[in-house]
Amino acid sequence: MKAVTLIAACTLAEALAGDPPSFSLNTKTLASPISKPHLPQFLSYSFEPAFWAEFFGEPDAPRNLTFTLLDHLHARGARPIIRAGGITMDSMIYNANQKLSAVRTENRNGGIYRTTIGPSFFKQWDNFPAGTTFVSTLNFGNNSVAIARDLAAASYQLQRDKIAYYELGNEPTNYPASRWQRSTEAYVAQWKSFTSQIDTALSGASHGKWWASSATTDVTGLRVRPSDLIPAGVNSTGQVGQYSIHSYAFATCDPARERRATIPNLLNHTDLLRYADVEIYPSARAAMDAGATWAVGEFNSIACSGKPNVSDTFAQALWTADVELMYAVRNATSVHLHQGATLVFQSNQQLNTPGDDGTPGFSSYSLLYPVASSKRGEARVLPVFVSQLLVAETLRGGGRIAALKTPEGLREREFSAYGVFGTEGRLERLVVLNMKPFYAGQEAAGTVWLDLGEHGRGAVVKRMTAPAVDEKDAAKVMWARQSFRNGRAVGEEIVENLEPGEKLVVRDSEGVLVIFN
Ligand SMILES: *[C@@H]1O[C@H](CO)[C@@H](O)[C@H](O)[C@H]1NC(C)=O
Ligand SMILES: *[C@@H]1O[C@H](CO)[C@@H](O)[C@H](O)[C@H]1NC(C)=O
Ligand SMILES: *[C@@H]1O[C@H](CO)[C@@H](O)[C@H](O)[C@H]1NC(C)=O
Ligand SMILES: *[C@@H]1O[C@H](CO)[C@@H](O)[C@H](O)[C@H]1NC(C)=O
Ligand SMILES: *[C@@H]1O[C@H](CO)[C@@H](O)[C@H](O)[C@H]1NC(C)=O
Ligand SMILES: *[C@@H]1O[C@H](CO)[C@@H](O)[C@H](O)[C@H]1NC(C)=O
Repeated sequence: MKAVTLIAACTLAEALAGDPPSFSLNTKTLASPISKPHLPQFLSYSFEPAFWAEFFGEPDAPRNLTFTLLDHLHARGARPIIRAGGITMDSMIYNANQKLSAVRTENRNGGIYRTTIGPSFFKQWDNFPAGTTFVSTLNFGNNSVAIARDLAAASYQLQRDKIAYYELGNEPTNYPASRWQRSTEAYVAQWKSFTSQIDTALSGASHGKWWASSATTDVTGLRVRPSDLIPAGVNSTGQVGQYSIHSYAFATCDPARERRATIPNLLNHTDLLRYADVEIYPSARAAMDAGATWAVGEFNSIACSGKPNVSDTFAQALWTADVELMYAVRNATSVHLHQGATLVFQSNQQLNTPGDDGTPGFSSYSLLYPVASSKRGEARVLPVFVSQLLVAETLRGGGRIAALKTPEGLREREFSAYGVFGTEGRLERLVVLNMKPFYAGQEAAGTVWLDLGEHGRGAVVKRMTAPAVDEKDAAKVMWARQSFRNGRAVGEEIVENLEPGEKLVVRDSEGVLVIFN
């Protein structure tokens, strides 16, 4: 057993003369319905298949850093579903004779024409913590049933028990317009034709286990979000297991969007809500109205591999925690945070570039830089990782979550709070995210004092914090006073004690999880 030290939360209070102004956080008036109970699979990931070997190594030489991070999540009850998905799955082929797990075929500038996977790719699944399941991702980009079927057959032959879903194609919204002439019906017809041929090849094993849509919210003329595909009859033959949509509210794919991908914009809670409600929720609603479940099959903050000095800072931890909990409120059954590296063919005017000689330019929104690289330096964990611990502990044990109203006197864009409820509707946990940016070099951080009212129960508080919102060194980024820069936890876990009636203190650019006794 690890020792847990309790300290008083009121040290700051005692240091200040007089009573600071406090705000009343009402845990009874909710800003949303209470969600369904969440499964341990809620916190999930998507890894760009072209960089599979960098993130996971080979079966006999697994990448310790990545697996160590997954172990921290499993230790907190999470059971992530792994999707080996992203743009490069649409030029992925299977070669039964290849020894290595995944091999890229690139041009000199790092443009990836093909990713060839061998049996090791699937054997590596055995190195994941017990209980891990996967999405078997299939190439739709090459427009070849044989290529997609061979991938499906290999995954089935080698790892049938670990396959949660099958997925044909990534982000059809971004395919050349010539493929389906912007016709939803043409897309649905071809998708059904491919998936039913694969169902037959697998003796029905994939039937009813398909993810459908995998669209982005980019407006490209092809309308294939779940809210478009459901009325178009995508499940008329009963093949769909779940609907999946991709969420990227910001991008560095072109200069105009790059200018908007800033820390203040990423932490504007009002705008994150707007995106979730306007772009994502209609598809979620359509799925739920059809009696189906839905997932955010791929997402991250800033499309086209993030933005250095924004997505590799502690701001990304606040962003990720807020957005994941927002989708938990909206009943996503899993949210797959995307991990990868710059893809040259994604955009010819993007900010990011690969490293020297086409080596990976790892995405700065990832949880980690899995290996040393010319572009990103030594292998290490990024500040965002602590957000995954906060979310895992928030939803642990089947949490049902609802958004709380912004306390009077605070700004909605700077403040986010959630309550987690037990089966009898009792408040079990509380998350508060103070989204107001506090930058290194600013004189003093503001602090919000919250009056939680008469809940009459003591609680422990775990704090997600960093010296400032733009901190880039994960050694200085803490969850309950532990940091994780090299994977392993450094320091002793320290939680704070919150007595009944005592105020909850949350500094600007800080998040807390309150666990009631
Ligand atoms: C990583 O390496 C350390 C030190 O060798 C070892 O104790 C640990 O079990 C390894 N972790 C994983 C997940 O393989
Ligand atoms: C798949 O399509 C890509 C892009 O059009 C092309 O470069 C590649 O050669 C194709 N691969 C195969 C095996 O046909
Ligand atoms: C698809 O249709 C089948 C057969 O009617 C049904 O069992 C399944 O739940 C449906 N899937 C979704 C995601 O709605
Ligand atoms: C925050 O987002 C809202 C909703 O998109 C927008 O109206 C507002 O101007 C933004 N605030 C700031 C300070 O950027
Ligand atoms: C990030 O910030 C550092 C330090 O302020 C600066 O040297 C670097 O040029 C910035 N990088 C980018 C991509 O803006
Ligand atoms: C989530 O599911 C619960 C239980 O079915 C339902 O009451 C709630 O309205 C749903 N939430 C949203 C935002 O749709």
